[in-house]
Amino acid sequence: MLQLTDNTLLKTHSYIDGQWHTSGSTLAVINPATGETLQQVSNASAEDAEKAVNAAHNAFQSWAATPANQRSKLLRKWFELMMAHQEDLAKILTLEQGKPLAEASGEIAYGASFLEWFSEEAKRVCGDTMPMPSSDKRMLVIKQPVGMVAAITPWNFPNAMIARKAAAALAAGCSFVVRPDAQTPLSALAMAELAHRAGIPAGVFNVVVGDDADSIGKVLTQHPKVAKFTFTGSTRVGKLLTAQCASTVKKVSMELGGNAPFIVFEDADIDAAVAGLMASKYRNGGQTCVSANRILVHSSIEQLFIEKLTVAVQQLKLGSGLEKGVTMGPMINSRAVANIRHLVDESITMGASKVIDVNDESLSDNFLAPIILGNVTNDMPIARNEIFGPICPIITFDTEDEAISIANDTEFGLAAYFYARDIGRVWRVSEALQFGMVGINEGAISNAAAPFGGVKQSGNGREGSQYGLDDYLEIKYLCMGGI
Ligand code: SIN
Repeated sequence: MLQLTDNTLLKTHSYIDGQWHTSGSTLAVINPATGETLQQVSNASAEDAEKAVNAAHNAFQSWAATPANQRSKLLRKWFELMMAHQEDLAKILTLEQGKPLAEASGEIAYGASFLEWFSEEAKRVCGDTMPMPSSDKRMLVIKQPVGMVAAITPWNFPNAMIARKAAAALAAGCSFVVRPDAQTPLSALAMAELAHRAGIPAGVFNVVVGDDADSIGKVLTQHPKVAKFTFTGSTRVGKLLTAQCASTVKKVSMELGGNAPFIVFEDADIDAAVAGLMASKYRNGGQTCVSANRILVHSSIEQLFIEKLTVAVQQLKLGSGLEKGVTMGPMINSRAVANIRHLVDESITMGASKVIDVNDESLSDNFLAPIILGNVTNDMPIARNEIFGPICPIITFDTEDEAISIANDTEFGLAAYFYARDIGRVWRVSEALQFGMVGINEGAISNAAAPFGGVKQSGNGREGSQYGLDDYLEIKYLCMGGI
């Protein structure tokens, strides 16, 4: 049984219209580190999702009409409650998702920072006036909330991915329904409890927990009352959901898969590059869409770089996220481990070789120890696919143009990283990389004040920052005559 300082944060029913909503059957939430069942949770159906959509739709008008500074205060209160309960929320997160407790605690602060950021931005939704075309007319623009928003969020950041969307939506004046991944619903339900305590009105924020992703997804993407749909997850699923949204022409934003190149040029500070790679690659065991996926190293420094990386990787400690000293938890499930192993094995048959493979036989099937792969080429499965695990495939290059060309040779365009000291190169490479976000001599780029999002098949729209509200607002043009 999960023990918290405040056990009432542990909720087991969907949160719809300000109420905890029981469903007929239950689903089990499993601790990926041990395989044990943590909690049974009511398993909501498509009909329950429809109830949530109706509740949010009914709540929309009055929430949109609530003065911005009032919405701001409620979001601020929610932020304060999240931070006051950071320890309990982190514990829930580690137990259902697997990441080490310190990282989980960081995710709670990261998630809460979006509530804080958008509580401030709520007050800055300003319109515009245009120069008049004739003396008896005036032209202006006002910004209004798009309406009721539906979201589907992933298991890798069970708190922050909800907070990043919900904070912007609520700040803009939209009401919100989210279906969190059924493997990690407890973090979402604890957030709902805190939204309730903060005084967010009934129907404005709803959480529907159910494992029938298909039928709940259809309600959220096809219901005519849903004005906007937002998703964080794989490109494959994002394409399906986008197609489903087409029948009602919803406004859509997608934060999808990545295949981040991490380029180390010959003029880089190699120690800083190794530290940056460790931060990017091993955050959440590599189960992050902005995780370094292909490590491009100039051939003249390959050996030294691999030596230093090997030392750093060997210091990682795998285990249950609640154990002291653990720096990397399990993968989300054994299917994920099998998929990653398959990418590694296929690439080895094509000529890649293992530099290190820190296997620990004592850990369960959900654990995957870090592997560094050498002799990788960009056509191998490990380089074509988003790995979502602790594998570092090393690809070498000889010129700047070659590095850029390999980096851009992917259908994805979320994050990219490079390490270089030459200022001319820093500009050239920053401009040439076809990605939505670029870390320059930096491996940790995520922040509430920064626009998060991708280009190409990594999605559309931006979350966080002053741009993050735009996806939740409509522009309305007013033309006033007879003046
Ligand atoms: C993600 O992996 O989807 C998000 C990671 C982040 O916000 O940094």
